[in-house]
Amino acid sequence: MKHFDFLVLGSGIAGLSFALKMSPRGRVAIVTKKQRAESNTNYAQGGIAAVTSKEDSFELHVRDTLEAGAGLCHEGVVRSIIEEGPARIAELIELGMRFSEREIPRSHGLKELDLGKEGGHSKRRILHAQDVTGREIEHALLSAIAAQPNIEIFEDHFAIDLITSQKLGCAGENRCLGVYVLNKNNGRVETIVASNVLLATGGCGKVYLYTTNPDIATGDGVAMAYRAGAAIANMEFIQFHPTCLYHPKAKSFLISEAVRGEGGVLKTVVGAEFMDKYHPLKSLAPRDIVARAIDIEMKKSGADHMLLDITHKPADFLKERFPNIYSTCLRLGIDITKEAIPVVPAAHYQCGGVLTNLHGETEIPGLYAVGEVACTGLHGANRLASNSLLEALVLAHHAAAQILAQPVPEMRIEIPGWQSGHAHNPDELVVVSHNWDEIRRLMWDYVGIVRTNKRLQRAKSRIANLQEEIQEYYWDFIVTSDLLELRNIATVAELIVNSALQRPESRGLHYNLDYPVPDPEWAQRDTFVRKPA
Ligand code: FAD
Ligand code: SIN
Repeated sequence: MKHFDFLVLGSGIAGLSFALKMSPRGRVAIVTKKQRAESNTNYAQGGIAAVTSKEDSFELHVRDTLEAGAGLCHEGVVRSIIEEGPARIAELIELGMRFSEREIPRSHGLKELDLGKEGGHSKRRILHAQDVTGREIEHALLSAIAAQPNIEIFEDHFAIDLITSQKLGCAGENRCLGVYVLNKNNGRVETIVASNVLLATGGCGKVYLYTTNPDIATGDGVAMAYRAGAAIANMEFIQFHPTCLYHPKAKSFLISEAVRGEGGVLKTVVGAEFMDKYHPLKSLAPRDIVARAIDIEMKKSGADHMLLDITHKPADFLKERFPNIYSTCLRLGIDITKEAIPVVPAAHYQCGGVLTNLHGETEIPGLYAVGEVACTGLHGANRLASNSLLEALVLAHHAAAQILAQPVPEMRIEIPGWQSGHAHNPDELVVVSHNWDEIRRLMWDYVGIVRTNKRLQRAKSRIANLQEEIQEYYWDFIVTSDLLELRNIATVAELIVNSALQRPESRGLHYNLDYPVPDPEWAQRDTFVRKPA
């Protein structure tokens, strides 16, 4: 058993920023299930939205966020996060983050931050590091952490379940006490105890067959919080990014919205523009509209992809602005300076998650959630592009401040070790991989960009059957990370379906053909799912 003052689950922007803030105040453990940089953060391309130019204003950023969120954002939360953005960005730069700059015209060499543009933004306001913003952020944060002796990182350690006083049968208010962790290096389950636990485990793109997310994104934090009794909100709002590279050899490679921000135009496979039929902002309309338009055009024409054309821009500009996209596509035989890029929509971002307030507090004392795992009310029914890195930075700061202002008192109780099954099962791998594939395909087919009540009901009963089977495996056999992830994606799939079934309307990212328009009654209503008592 290990004891720390602060326990952080996840090493993306949320977890690392929080850990840095807490390290002067006590010992911090960061538990992460693969290598330290492996996270959604690491693959972020477009950048961070924040008001840093004279042509922009908080008011405009707030308005764009509310508009993308389709009526469901919590305006107070939106204002607070956006207004705090510049201060948190300044801290990140102070830590060593280098954003791309451009020469100020007629200034004789003076430079300013280069601001990108993305869908739904009325101004250029995206700070970026070429098209590898996330990689640079991880590098800056991990370098700063390496200089902190108070922070210990546990790589290849998989958080299985939260330890709560309720689960241990203690009387009184439920609270979080720590976590059981599978050490993947030796197969042992370890117990880590801390009075303050931060969930920063990211999103759940891997619940869907096609996703822009890396393999870590299996919704573990949401599933753990749900099992521990926390409220989970708005899980029906899964954002599909319109432009994931379509190529048999490309796994989850994103073509940043910034490409459309710099003039990229969506076309059908025969080269016809189509976005003017769907929105006045055409290819730069909010993501839900663009993803749905592509889905409709693909279904109408039978094509298996659409095209994104930026060949009208100078080749040197494209190579400098998008070096990662240019070189990755070129390796796969696509020269983006000369030919249009084949693209398809793919699951990208979880707008809902563990319900928190503006301090990152969940319903369980001692348990905080920050980043993609959390639902603060910022994104509403559809996240505005590049608002997630911003939210993670601001909320990590808030959660740290809250813990220092109102520390949760230490609770001294005996915590039992992990109880697991002992059997090895030779069939396990094939059963686990079969169930993984089945869930991801059924979520794509029945709970994707366009939904119906019938498909949602069908998904619900299939997931219930799969869960019974998984539960049996979980208890009887020695746990492995594949089995744990399978259990988590099944839980998250169930939460998405149950939330979608609660909302009798179409709004933002949730589009149901049985209720094709928004219902004003539901404009300010979030959906919640809690584990039955
Ligand atoms: P993550 O960065 O995903 O980190 C989660 C961490 O938790 C990882 O270290 C993971 O290994 C760990 N973890 C998960 N489960 C467990 C477990 N059971 N045990 C231990 N560790 C665990 N947003 C923007 O604002 N701007 C962008 O330009 C942008 N581009 C994007 C491009 C791509 C390709 C993708 C996939 C997303 C993009 N997003 C962007 C979204 C944004 O990157 C994420 O929402 C954000 O990085 C999430 O940060 P996080 O710290 O919450 O989680
Ligand atoms: C992108 O670069 O298109 C991703 C931006 C985001 O998801 O916020």
